[in-house]
Amino acid sequence: MRHRYITLAALLLVLAGMTTLVSYSVTLYRLFCQVTGANGTTRRVAALDVAPSARMVTVYFDTSVAPGMPWRFAPVQRSVRMHLGEDRLVFFSAENLSDQPVTGHATFNVTPSKAGIYFKKIQCFCFTEERLGPHKRVEMPVDFFVDPKLATDPDTSDVDEITLSYTFFRSKVDAVPRDLARFGKPDAATGGKLFAENCSACHAADHNGVGPALAGVVGRRAGSEAGFAYSAALRGSGIVWNAQTLDRWLAGPQAMVPGAAMPVHVGDAAERRDIVAYLASLRGTGS
Ligand code: HEC
Repeated sequence: MRHRYITLAALLLVLAGMTTLVSYSVTLYRLFCQVTGANGTTRRVAALDVAPSARMVTVYFDTSVAPGMPWRFAPVQRSVRMHLGEDRLVFFSAENLSDQPVTGHATFNVTPSKAGIYFKKIQCFCFTEERLGPHKRVEMPVDFFVDPKLATDPDTSDVDEITLSYTFFRSKVDAVPRDLARFGKPDAATGGKLFAENCSACHAADHNGVGPALAGVVGRRAGSEAGFAYSAALRGSGIVWNAQTLDRWLAGPQAMVPGAAMPVHVGDAAERRDIVAYLASLRGTGS
């Protein structure tokens, strides 16, 4: 118990220091909430309840930016060597090299991918959309641990090096002019344009990419596209996709399915409606 308070106090001290050093970051705020349980977010019980094991792993960090993304994005530390079950806080820095504000979102993946399920708490701190002013720089924390079950699962017991990779994409949320037409009927053509700008970096109709293939998604059970490695949260959600559930998903994937791995949302209701109309038009393509 005492140990916990000391860890927590140390972490808060680090965070207090960080906030004075770096620009405001939404992610940092969320991390703070996760640690303290403030603002209705859940406490990080799982992380603190796992007993650290003697087994060590080395975790390497790898970063890249998608074409057209004018950011420099780098891990602050190349790697950490840590015990299984040990809670670690690491940082990534991002700098906008352009003269315009740019919004970005990141996806992550874990190699070897069979170790992915033992990488815990990542999704809670997965970078949300970050807007950076011209030539601004932020440091973004990721808090994680590797579940000691890694060592006992025959599939993964040989793993002693894990790589966590992040790719930052440019979000084009502001690119479509918001004219009055958006209050008319749902428009699949506009939805198709919005899809090309906001979704196609990760999704295609007929094959899996960073996100699952979406042809026939209306009427499909969430997390059921063959061959795609979904989060356990979405796979086990019991959701069936229809206009209402898709609208809620696009408005806030993690609000609807805590632990879901899709890092973007669409804030505008009219845009969501058009995108859903477009998704419905993909019915039957391919199959
Ligand atoms: C940066 C990558 C990325 C972007 C951009 C993205 N998605 Fe996703 N999407 C994902 C991932 C990853 C999943 C799987 C989530 C999980 O397993 O929890 C997903 C899941 C989904 C699902 C559930 C599909 C199923 O089979 O259950 C739908 C629907 C969806 N996305 C629609 C969209 C739409 C529409 C957009 C654009 C507004 C979009 N996504 C943008 C990565 C992305």
